[in-house]
Amino acid sequence: MGSNQIIDEKKQGQALLTKPKSVNGKKVYLESYGCQMNLNDSEIVASILLKEGYNTTMDMEKADLVLVNTCSIREKAEQTVRKRLEKYNSIKKVNPTMKIGVLGCMAERLKEKFLEEEQMVDMVVGPDAYRDLPNLIKDIEDGREAINVLLSKEETYADIAPVRLNSNGVSAFVSITRGCDNMCTFCVVPFTRGRERSRDPKSILKEIKNLQDKNYKEITLLGQNVDSYIWYGGGLKKDFNKASKEAQEKAIDFSNLLDICALEFPEIRIRFSTSNPQDMKLNVIHTMAKHTNICKYIHLPVQSGSTSVLERMNRKHTREEYIDLINNIRSIIPECAISHDMIAGFSGETEEEHQETLSLMEYVKYDFGFMFAYSDRPGTPAHKNMQDDVPLNIKKHRLTEIIQLQQKHGLYRMKQFLGKTVEVLIEGNSKKSDAHWKGRSSQNAMVVFQKTENEKIGDLVFVKITDCTSATLIGTKTTN
Ligand code: SAH
Ligand code: F3S
Repeated sequence: MGSNQIIDEKKQGQALLTKPKSVNGKKVYLESYGCQMNLNDSEIVASILLKEGYNTTMDMEKADLVLVNTCSIREKAEQTVRKRLEKYNSIKKVNPTMKIGVLGCMAERLKEKFLEEEQMVDMVVGPDAYRDLPNLIKDIEDGREAINVLLSKEETYADIAPVRLNSNGVSAFVSITRGCDNMCTFCVVPFTRGRERSRDPKSILKEIKNLQDKNYKEITLLGQNVDSYIWYGGGLKKDFNKASKEAQEKAIDFSNLLDICALEFPEIRIRFSTSNPQDMKLNVIHTMAKHTNICKYIHLPVQSGSTSVLERMNRKHTREEYIDLINNIRSIIPECAISHDMIAGFSGETEEEHQETLSLMEYVKYDFGFMFAYSDRPGTPAHKNMQDDVPLNIKKHRLTEIIQLQQKHGLYRMKQFLGKTVEVLIEGNSKKSDAHWKGRSSQNAMVVFQKTENEKIGDLVFVKITDCTSATLIGTKTTN
């Protein structure tokens, strides 16, 4: 979700709650849409607000402040937020002192327009400006409009410990880069989240230590493009070449970072997301293979199986180079699960090019996939220079074909686990029954199994797989 992989749709927009409580009586109702990075940012926002005396509430009608962390990635995501803004405003009619703030990518994309045209919000805050929230809140309390959409050149929140929202207490996100320099032609992220910068490894390790002390067992290192992580003492990724020779030689790349985290925290399971194929180096795959505590799962969005479409998308690899990467992963880590993001009906996509997407999927047989119809986004290079010319009904038809093929492959991959034993980190009760646990395998497959008396949330247990659906493995606990 962008960064990243999109979070489970059902979880989108839930009211977010924290455990810590402040004594001041103010209440904030906080909702988050979009990717995991947004959810992690919402945790940073909650941490900043807690210091200002705000507790989270699930009851919007009692809130002093309603904040929505927004996503711009597709038009539908923005429409969802607009509907929510209407809802907040209907409540504001009953509770006129309530203030409404828009955070995140839509705030960055629309800026003043939100205050000028929509009249629906009091405060507009871009993804790099959350430190300014206390001042902005003061502004609106004093009756002034409040906006801050400045983007930053440095990692923005390294020293803020996010308070975990709606957390299962077992797994947590840790941001390692912000922004993106890739300029894929369809994507709004480089415009809403700014230039790419990496976070000081020391502050990453400190955050993981903190999580370990609070009994967390799994972390996901997050970034739009984690494989291009580069720490050379601070600054933008694009300025790395201008750094001194010494700084360049001492620089820490993503493979080094993974290695350091895995060695420092042998008891913590480590995941990461997202990998852009053009930046994923072999050293990362070797580091994954070396450490048992790095999960054997790579989210490797490809967007299309056609080299000509990839070129129009400004993805900097061909179909053949992607296949080489897949072959390398499979030979170095045979048990590795791989997932994709795919876009159906990008500008100029022909039926032949779409068929190349299906044939690539047939070759890889992905474990999971996140699939979308192309949505033309104002301001992107594709919007400026290309026609959104694939008719909607054809986009939808191609998307359906991609989804159906993915379901077939998902089931195929799940069936490979029948009769095998997998290691599962218990995350909580299964959705359907309190008599069963749910958790994930190293390969990120959801596993459900009957509880026995000897285990609890956060335990790593072995489960022998006896049955499966296309989304879940079902099994019984065993001793190894
Ligand atoms: N590099 C990021 C990508 C973020 S966007 C990451 O970490 O995953 C997540 C996914 O949304 C992309 O991989 C792409 O498949 C999809 N997406 C982005 N822009 C889109 C658009 N304009 N229309 C449809 N899907 C889009
Ligand atoms: Fe978007 Fe491409 Fe970056 S999809 S987030 S511009 S890697």
